[in-house]
Amino acid sequence: MEQRYSSVRSLVADLRPEKPLHVFRPNAIEEAAYFFMNNFKGRICYAVKTNPDPMVLKHLWSLGITSFDVASMQEIETVKSHLPDAQLYFMHTVKSRAAIRKAYFEFGVRSFSLDTEEELYKILAETENATDLQLFVRLAIPNTYAEMNLADKFGINLSEAAELLELTRGYAQKLGVCFHVGSQCMHSDAYRIAMRMAKQVIDAAGVPVDMLDVGGGYPSIYPGMNPPPIHTYLDAIEEEFEALFSDDQVELICEPGRALVAESGAVIVRVELRKGQNLYINDGTYGSLFDAGGPKWIFPVRLIRPDGPHSASLLPFSFFGPTCDTLDFMKGPFYLPEDISEGDYIEVGQLGAYGRTMGTAFNGFTPEDGTPWVDEPPLMSLYGEHVEAPEVLEIAA
Ligand SMILES: Cc1ncc(COP(=O)(O)O)c(C=O)c1O
Repeated sequence: MEQRYSSVRSLVADLRPEKPLHVFRPNAIEEAAYFFMNNFKGRICYAVKTNPDPMVLKHLWSLGITSFDVASMQEIETVKSHLPDAQLYFMHTVKSRAAIRKAYFEFGVRSFSLDTEEELYKILAETENATDLQLFVRLAIPNTYAEMNLADKFGINLSEAAELLELTRGYAQKLGVCFHVGSQCMHSDAYRIAMRMAKQVIDAAGVPVDMLDVGGGYPSIYPGMNPPPIHTYLDAIEEEFEALFSDDQVELICEPGRALVAESGAVIVRVELRKGQNLYINDGTYGSLFDAGGPKWIFPVRLIRPDGPHSASLLPFSFFGPTCDTLDFMKGPFYLPEDISEGDYIEVGQLGAYGRTMGTAFNGFTPEDGTPWVDEPPLMSLYGEHVEAPEVLEIAA
């Protein structure tokens, strides 16, 4: 059992971490999981790539999420080693032959996605023409409303999709259609449009479909990226599903990643040097802050100085990470007290999704082992009343 603290401040005062330290907020993951479980009328498959930490997987399982979207053999092995009864959906549309074979014969995986005829034949060959497959054809849906586009890489064009769906029907015990509206999707209409497109493809194929997987994409909240209320997304899906598929025996599935776990993770970094409004910190784009680099995302931050007071005025700062690479730069702006200096700690929030999991050991910089639990609410939240006011409100000129 990890150490548990009432606040990040008490944790920093106690541990004074030398390296970046990840913290876990079990209450935040509970809130998000219960929100999806209460409001999504179908099967929830957690997208493991978002955060494959066994602690997260086991926590979701204990809350009642028992299906997992996996993309690699490593993810399959991780989930199965901790949760042997988990239901796995192998939803990468380009898999190695060895991975398909091992997934089917050693791990009992029956659900696979594909977006080409070639992948269909690969799956059939490697499962020795299994007759108990659940096959999902992934459609390329425009990712118009998403901050992170996935459509250029995966999915079959809608004009060719009906033919592949019809072909796949001949081999699938259960046939599904899936799509991804793109990550950090900023409007619920994206799901309505995608579901209508899926319906058109299904009608054009003229074959019965057993499953509709509306994928991931549900947003989290970041400074300057404030999505509409999260319930509007699930409301849109429910309404559209009712309108388009209520007469058919179709199972509804979703694959949330970011929205389930973003708020549950944060990293505590330390300022090693200040040069004007650039802070040299001990984590960076080769660690858990990849998205703050190239994609220039802004994460919520707050100063943690356990030993004394700090200025009430804020200044915009940029961060340099610890490695030798000048790309290890996070433009921000990250608003922090104007007197921040070497030795201060900063909590960087919303890193439960695509945070630690993106990290490398480049240049020998790695985080602390272990992930203490914190009961304090996250710095920002889409769920409930947990949007915490910043510690200091006055902005310096
Ligand atoms: C197939 C698939 N499903 C689900 C997800 C999770 O997406 P998100 O974190 O945007 O909810 C991803 C993310 O890349 C994905 O590729």
